[in-house]
Amino acid sequence: MPEVNKITKNAWVGAIAQPAVEFSLTPLKVAFGKIPLGLRGTLYRNGPARLERGGRRVGHWFDGDGAILAVHFTDAGAAGIYRYVQTAEYEMETKAGKFLYSVYGMHAPGPIWKRWNQQLKNAANTSVLALPEKLLALWEATKPYALDLQNLETKGLDDLGGLDDELPYSAHYKRDPRTGDIFNFGVSIGNDVRLNLYRSDRTGKIVQKSAYKLEQFAIVHDFVFTEQYLVFFIPPMRVKLLPVLLGLTTFSEAFVWQPQSGTQVLVFDRETLSLVSRGETDPWFQWHFGNGFVDSDGLIILDLVRYSDFDQTNQYLKEVATGQTHTPAKGTLWRIHLDPKTAKVKAMQEVFHRKCEFPVVQQSQVGQPWRYTYLSVLRQDADLTQDFLGAIARYDHKTETFVEADCGKNRYPSEPIYAPDIENPEQGWILTVVYDGNSHRSEVWVLDADKLEAEPICKLELPSVIPHSFHGCWKSV
Ligand SMILES: [Fe+2]
Repeated sequence: MPEVNKITKNAWVGAIAQPAVEFSLTPLKVAFGKIPLGLRGTLYRNGPARLERGGRRVGHWFDGDGAILAVHFTDAGAAGIYRYVQTAEYEMETKAGKFLYSVYGMHAPGPIWKRWNQQLKNAANTSVLALPEKLLALWEATKPYALDLQNLETKGLDDLGGLDDELPYSAHYKRDPRTGDIFNFGVSIGNDVRLNLYRSDRTGKIVQKSAYKLEQFAIVHDFVFTEQYLVFFIPPMRVKLLPVLLGLTTFSEAFVWQPQSGTQVLVFDRETLSLVSRGETDPWFQWHFGNGFVDSDGLIILDLVRYSDFDQTNQYLKEVATGQTHTPAKGTLWRIHLDPKTAKVKAMQEVFHRKCEFPVVQQSQVGQPWRYTYLSVLRQDADLTQDFLGAIARYDHKTETFVEADCGKNRYPSEPIYAPDIENPEQGWILTVVYDGNSHRSEVWVLDADKLEAEPICKLELPSVIPHSFHGCWKSV
């Protein structure tokens, strides 16, 4: 295993070379510009912050312990706080001073015979769901952890008032902007593999559930929400479960890509959570969808970041944890027209050709017609395999053009998050946490969502380096 802290070639590595350092609630210094008057609320972000313990490195970027950054924007200015999610496993490992558990891409230490059916660590590192009374740190293989919205104190595992034992709650929930209902899913492995669907009210309480039997276990990370439908694209893959249970391979190593099977398309009714149609299309892999809606012809229009297969993107993400990436894994933005009555893809087109990830839209447009998808993208002159996403783009589906906020050499923004202007909901800002590899510091940047290419409106200094993170959300006041 290479020693990441000795690698200096790629500036992005600095953000994950050492375990992140927590900080208590701290007023943030404005390094540039001014905090907009209409920006009031909290930015929350989650990501793997500790990638080593006791001299051992994790096996995959997904294995790092989650830490949450909260930045509260009030009339008094901005204040930030950064805390690890104190899961039961995190506390045990902290006490032991070493890793004790298996995760997605690594085994627990010790002899193989001890690994049989061993409990996985809840990494709590993938996303956050801000509810009126609590913040949930989401992972996708188990239940979430609840935290205090203000001070990020960990309260414990949360079942959202209706999650049965062993049922997972995934990281890519969707909130219906019209009703406040929250839709999500979880794939469970028991006697059979099930896609469990959940609807919660605006408080997070689960009020409706259903389950659909899948033919095999695949990585289902995200889905598409529209006013009438929930749409899942099940990648053509299976898992060799026995070697995982025996402790011979990790989950990450146990997936078999089988493109001959094609991608399964499952369309569910939003009201009943029951299957409407099932189809098949070309093989590909996706982690994330941007958005979807039903057009006047009754077709679902959706966008996603599509990869040619699972193996390359998984290998690349594994390499990220080592600080040395060499596998090309180019996801690009595609748009699909899908007939929900038959689950048949009517048209499919690559619309943005640069390597990109983390497609997001304004929360008010989730499931609704939308024009702009915001993305993290690779800078124009960056190396496809060795460099990290270094810019943010806004893709315009109407004009089929994009504008870009290039953060500059050796700077790496996180997923863009849209924060609406409380004084004028038609306008808003893009918030991103930027790691500056030149100065080895992290900042929060506030960009004008309509003028991404312009200089940031505001930059806030953070007290410590925030490692590259996965997902976040904005909670308005
Ligand atoms: Fe994700």
